[in-house]
Amino acid sequence: MSIHRPEVKRITTHQLQAMKNRGEKISMLTAYDFSMARILDGAGIDVLLVGDSASNVMAGNETTLPITLDHMIYHASSVVKGVTRAFVVVDIPFGSYQGNSTEALRSAIRIMKESGAHAVKMEGGAEIKDSVERILSAGVPVMGHLGLTPQSIYKFGTYTVRAKEEEEAQKLIEDAILLEKCGCFSIVLEKIPAKLAEEVAKTVNIPIIGIGAGNAVDGQVLVMQDMLGITKEFKPRFLRAYADLDNIVTNAVEHYIEDVKSGDFPNEKEQY
Ligand code: KIV
Repeated sequence: MSIHRPEVKRITTHQLQAMKNRGEKISMLTAYDFSMARILDGAGIDVLLVGDSASNVMAGNETTLPITLDHMIYHASSVVKGVTRAFVVVDIPFGSYQGNSTEALRSAIRIMKESGAHAVKMEGGAEIKDSVERILSAGVPVMGHLGLTPQSIYKFGTYTVRAKEEEEAQKLIEDAILLEKCGCFSIVLEKIPAKLAEEVAKTVNIPIIGIGAGNAVDGQVLVMQDMLGITKEFKPRFLRAYADLDNIVTNAVEHYIEDVKSGDFPNEKEQY
């Protein structure tokens, strides 16, 4: 079986913009490894995000803060090898861009050079403007991320819905306009009221991708482990589980153990 489909046309930032312009929704999921990236790409996903949520779902950490730039590059280069069509975006991890635009540029360039990914994602608005501009000036596409920004979890103190109050909502709209003006090609809005997300999607021209931000945006993203029913304990209102992989894998492994213990596996046809 060939794992490459050279005839397939790659998704680009231009195509994502065209999708928004013609009202076609953008599908995006996270991926962290070659095998899953290959499956998601083959299924036709538009964008794969190598999210720093790898810190939670791959490494078992409580927050996204511990993951390093080297870890992100390792995950990203694995994902890129599994993809022939999807546009691959990589989170710049906590501590690799905040407050220092030179370091931000260095981090983005390392991600692009060492993983072969197509863009980076950064959390924040006005406070990271210099870093965003510096990276964009090097020709690296940047996706913004506003609303609930998990890298700032210790500032928020909780993972509840953001921007419910007028002042925070106003700042979010201003940040979205600023990110568009800087040249970002898209923005993720995480866990904010649907009405506010709709207003942002109508105010800016670039694609707005929501997670827990309602349906009136230009696309949706979910963490792959959540939508496949692997992280069973995580059940926010915005999540729809499309499979129960926890059950499927548990049943398969129990069956395998049974067969090994009983001597049923391998049988005569399964040996040389
Ligand atoms: O890291 C991640 O998975 C993300 C998504 C939740 C948007 O940033």
